[in-house]
Amino acid sequence: MHNDIKRVLLSEEELESIITRLAGELDRDYAGRDGRLVLLCILKGSVVFMGELMKKITVPVEIDFMKVSSYGAGTTTTGNIHIALDINRKDIECCDIVIVEDIIDSGRTLSHLSKYLTLKGARSVKTCTLLDKPSRREVDFEADYVGCNIPDEFVVGYGLDYDERYRALPYVGILKPEVYM
Ligand code: IMP
Ligand code: MG
Repeated sequence: MHNDIKRVLLSEEELESIITRLAGELDRDYAGRDGRLVLLCILKGSVVFMGELMKKITVPVEIDFMKVSSYGAGTTTTGNIHIALDINRKDIECCDIVIVEDIIDSGRTLSHLSKYLTLKGARSVKTCTLLDKPSRREVDFEADYVGCNIPDEFVVGYGLDYDERYRALPYVGILKPEVYM
């Protein structure tokens, strides 16, 4: 285990079985639909989750990417997010979009993005998150597909970072508080 990690929260094996279950739920819900199923990866934290999830889905699926960041996180409650890379599809009205996110905290990012993609004309918009911290919610938002609820601890690994570090760890671990305090 990495020296800066206090405890492994989800092992590689646990992550594998969580993602297998999520892929099964998506297969069940999107089988036989005539739209284009698009997994929309929210960069950068969702890349590892996205890669594993798409391999396990058996219905035809396309992928796309967006990059977003919170405006003045921690200091403002406007809930505005900055879109650094937008989805750019001419056929968005044919797309059943599933936003693939690493973790939900306040709920602002996914709440905003869901509305944004609906306004852009997507045929449908659902959300799928690997991790959820329900106790941290600041806006009323629930994902359609949730891998695992976790306590209010700062976690890294499996794509998630602290200051761009630890994304490559193969597990989700709780970061030692002394690393960020
Ligand atoms: P929200 O808009 O507050 O729900 O923020 C979600 C975003 O905050 C995620 O995409 C992550 O980038 C980041 N985040 C929230 N909690 C954690 C954590 O424990 N570790 C790493 N990133 C986190
Ligand atoms: Mg992040």
